[in-house]
Amino acid sequence: MPGKILIVEDDLESLKLIGLMLQSRGYQIVAAQSGLQALNKAVSESPDLVLLDVMMPGMDGYEVARRLRADERTAAIPIIMLTARGQITDKVAGFEAGADEYLVKPVHPAELVTRIEALISRTTRLGPPTRLPRGKSVGFLGCKGGVGTTTLAINLSVTLIRGPALGKRVVLLDARTGSSPLALQMGLRPQQGLQVLAGRDPQGLNADTILTYADRHVSGVLVLGGLPDPQGTVQSFTPAHIEAIVRSLADTVDYVLVDMGVGLDAVNQALLRTLDYVMIVVEPHRISLLLTQALLAALDALEIGRHRQGIVLVNRAPTSTTPGRDAVEEFLQREIVVVIPPAPELAFRAAEQGTPMVVMQPESLVAVQFHQLAQHIASR
Ligand SMILES: Nc1ncnc2c1ncn2[C@@H]1O[C@H](COP(=O)(O)OP(=O)(O)O)[C@@H](O)[C@H]1O
Ligand SMILES: [Mg+2]
Repeated sequence: MPGKILIVEDDLESLKLIGLMLQSRGYQIVAAQSGLQALNKAVSESPDLVLLDVMMPGMDGYEVARRLRADERTAAIPIIMLTARGQITDKVAGFEAGADEYLVKPVHPAELVTRIEALISRTTRLGPPTRLPRGKSVGFLGCKGGVGTTTLAINLSVTLIRGPALGKRVVLLDARTGSSPLALQMGLRPQQGLQVLAGRDPQGLNADTILTYADRHVSGVLVLGGLPDPQGTVQSFTPAHIEAIVRSLADTVDYVLVDMGVGLDAVNQALLRTLDYVMIVVEPHRISLLLTQALLAALDALEIGRHRQGIVLVNRAPTSTTPGRDAVEEFLQREIVVVIPPAPELAFRAAEQGTPMVVMQPESLVAVQFHQLAQHIASR
């Protein structure tokens, strides 16, 4: 029955030890010494099982497990977490991240082999496990303020629910409890909800509780917007809050869209680890492009896989010398998913009336581009 096992372990000695032991039982071994290597090999080698160490520098085992589960090419591969930590909370974290089994080191070779065999035969017998229906989570991150990030998140949410996500549940969440005009831009009254949630114990947050604070926009989008907070007195989310909120929403609704604003503070870094996909909002101007370059390098340093990033070019105010799509792609060395054309008049009227642009003019060029973007996100 033996099969192919991907061993993920940063410690070379342990790696060799486990590898040799399993090899002697007839298993074919593939080794990875970092989280990133593990993700790549899980795709290229299609192992029958992943043996995953938790404590690794850089990307830890929990994160590797989450990413394996999030990628449909690797989502069905059984995972055994192998760790020196035996606290019950660690185990829970392991299972939440997507592990099928959790073994505490040192594990007896006979026990390890028994678990491996049981798990592989269970998976072969049942076929790949049917995963719980789980929504998509997408963040919108500006390369700087004022480039149209909030406008993008709003218009996309409405385009989704009127198109590819018709009849489904779409939540639009503000990562900032204070200072965002998201609710106002949608013609909604700013609410205390996010502030209340920020005051709660993140462990106790579930989707039902969270959604009681959502406002329903006329389009059907459920909006969790922050308060205008000029004095900075509104309590902010901690990384644990934002992670708990996005995870529980994504387990319940079909789309969770998050307006991340700008920057890579702790909350946005937690979001980058949690979200399926992040759209980086870029303006075709020199300063924005330089900031984007730095941002993309930072995302690489944080090991946010490029398959989880997309770039949207928002061309709010073109001039005769504004670089076009090709020039921007060339400069950033990345592909652009969609270009949102300038619509200053429409954007202004939309803001004045608190109505999204795509609702005001569903036939406009802007709306057509939002459709493309919605399709792109829905088909991922
Ligand atoms: N395609 C567009 N054409 C023209 N103006 C736009 C466009 N998209 C957004 N805007 C305008 O740009 C300004 C900044 O948008 P906003 O979404 O608040 O940016 P951010 O969230 O990045 O700070 C707003 O006045 C908005 O109406
Ligand atoms: Mg904004």
